[in-house]
Amino acid sequence: MRKKIVAGNWKMNKTFQEGVDLAIELNKVVVEKGAKDVTVVVSPPFTHIAEVNKVVDNDRISVAGQNCATETSGAYTGEISAEMLWSSGANYVILGHSERRTYYGETNELLNTKVKKALEFNLIPIYCVGEVLEEREAGKHFDVIKEQIETVLFDLEIADFEKVVVAYEPVWAIGTGKTASSDQAQEVHKFIRTLLADKFGAAADNTSILYGGSCNPKNANELFSNADVDGGLIGGASLKAEDFIQIINAY
Ligand code: 13P
Repeated sequence: MRKKIVAGNWKMNKTFQEGVDLAIELNKVVVEKGAKDVTVVVSPPFTHIAEVNKVVDNDRISVAGQNCATETSGAYTGEISAEMLWSSGANYVILGHSERRTYYGETNELLNTKVKKALEFNLIPIYCVGEVLEEREAGKHFDVIKEQIETVLFDLEIADFEKVVVAYEPVWAIGTGKTASSDQAQEVHKFIRTLLADKFGAAADNTSILYGGSCNPKNANELFSNADVDGGLIGGASLKAEDFIQIINAY
């Protein structure tokens, strides 16, 4: 069965104490009034993961890293391994976010290695794809997304592929207040599912494909009502418990 997932990407926001306080507040509202059929994920900065994991009810909220290393362990100053995330309580890791691609030069080839490393250490990758504005305006978005999907996911074993969550985040919609229209989101989500189905068959029916990019309490319901939109990856609106819970309950 395809899971409905609402994941909050805190990015580089919140001090340690602010992050723990947000997690406590969010846990309270999710336990009290969160839709039970929605898997809720929060992705705090690395330094907060272990404590956030302690203060939330793990049956209701899972924790994700925002990135992981390509290597298992060793002399890689500043890197955080998949195993470290897992051992701190994370069950998911966001990979391929456009901010990592743009500011840190992450390529599809590198992300293929990271996705496999995450899976090796029992983390569920939330693998992000999406085009920049110029690519959409030039009508190249399907080609860009196809390459992002094929290069990174197509050599996975089927049992590994079945664990992967995909997030479509049009770069022009991230943090801009501009959201993809409901039709634009559905069109790309369907395109992604068809690509995955051509390669992995019926398993693609069970892949959760999340929408990300200025998703908020006002537009979440319309976006999530599309047949191939299985939830959201939320940036700014995940930093306020009241907004985030409304998105969780937007189905
Ligand atoms: P916003 O919701 O702030 O646009 O961010 C989306 C995002 O990048 C989630 O990963």
